[in-house]
Amino acid sequence: MEKEHYLSFLALVSFDRVQIVKLYPEQAPAARFAGARRGDVLYAFCNRHGLYRVKAAALR
Ligand SMILES: [Fe+2]
Repeated sequence: MEKEHYLSFLALVSFDRVQIVKLYPEQAPAARFAGARRGDVLYAFCNRHGLYRVKAAALR
């Protein structure tokens, strides 16, 4: 990522909790979430483009 354009955080939303991982421009735009399950929704916040939902194809 770059200082001018980067993901500020990732948020995994499940039925009973939200896990948020803060990201920094110097690091890769990736995170591990404990106990992620099918049906959870991942959101990413970009400093330029705002909040968006990450499509399932981008998840492993
Ligand atoms: Fe962006």
